[in-house]
Amino acid sequence: MAFPSQRLRRLRSTPTLRNMVRETWLTSNDFIYPLFVVYGENKRIPVASMPGVFQYSVDRLLEPVQQLAELEIPAVLLFGIPEVKDALGTSAWQNDGVVQQAIREIKKLSPQTIVITDVCMCEYTDHGHCGALDENGQVVNDITLDLLAREALSHAKAGCDMVAPSDMMDGRVGAIRKALDEGGYAHLPIMAYAAKYSSALYGPFRDAAESAPQFGDRKTYQMDGANRLESLREVALDIEEGADIVIVKPALAYLDIIREVKDTFKYPTAAYHVSGEYAMLKAAASNGWLDEEKATLEILTSIKRAGADMIITYAALDAARWLKG
Ligand code: PBG
Ligand code: ZN
Repeated sequence: MAFPSQRLRRLRSTPTLRNMVRETWLTSNDFIYPLFVVYGENKRIPVASMPGVFQYSVDRLLEPVQQLAELEIPAVLLFGIPEVKDALGTSAWQNDGVVQQAIREIKKLSPQTIVITDVCMCEYTDHGHCGALDENGQVVNDITLDLLAREALSHAKAGCDMVAPSDMMDGRVGAIRKALDEGGYAHLPIMAYAAKYSSALYGPFRDAAESAPQFGDRKTYQMDGANRLESLREVALDIEEGADIVIVKPALAYLDIIREVKDTFKYPTAAYHVSGEYAMLKAAASNGWLDEEKATLEILTSIKRAGADMIITYAALDAARWLKG
């Protein structure tokens, strides 16, 4: 391959030609839209640090669900903000809890929409950690597994299509798989937050989900962002325990991890383009510093190019509209 016999610019000369050799195509079918469901009635509360994102009460879900259907976005990822929080997060597995009601409502409004539920304790605990605490304020792994299994089973009973544990306890995929199998839900898939890093980019989400830890941080359960090989151990364990889809999170700062996880395991792989990644784009765009459409589509395309089969993103509605042209 030598110049001048090879000239790579030959295939870049027109838009049509560029499309013919384009390697990565983003479509609305790639997206999973995170949805925050809040206790109460007639609520559509804007999230300050995430322009365009709202907390909806169950009775106001028609608007986002209709948009998703129109834009052919196949799936939602549900987060609940309950009325009451306590030390064990007991409202996480109530039959008439906020997420359980939302599952039934969305399946009624739009049966074809895939309803995935985030399974974690931090939205339901008064201390904001992702599990039960011991007397020293440490998250206790094995007790938390029971709580997560109960939560996942209650989502299954409410009619969700998939559960997504995001807590990062050891053994939770296996515990949830066992509870689902014993409860008669052997066919319900698990999308595991397998390589979930302890990240500063979750800040805006914690406003949206009202789930910030009241003390300390999540570094004893979420991964250290400096580690690559450890992510392969996390993913291997989750797959062994029964994960059907694995998530790498965040996305843009961890593109190398997405690529390596995809190449190593060849499993359906999702990337979570997280709240802070969304907020950065929105902030720069609102200042006129970036072209929001071009920058967002470039980043989402890079996540897919890195190996993600699915992208969980708050920009799903906007991106789907832009892609429609
Ligand atoms: C709950 C959870 C978090 C996110 C998804 N599920 C926050 C956290 O772990 O603190 C982050 C999502 C985002 O930032 O968009 N465990
Ligand atoms: Zn959590």
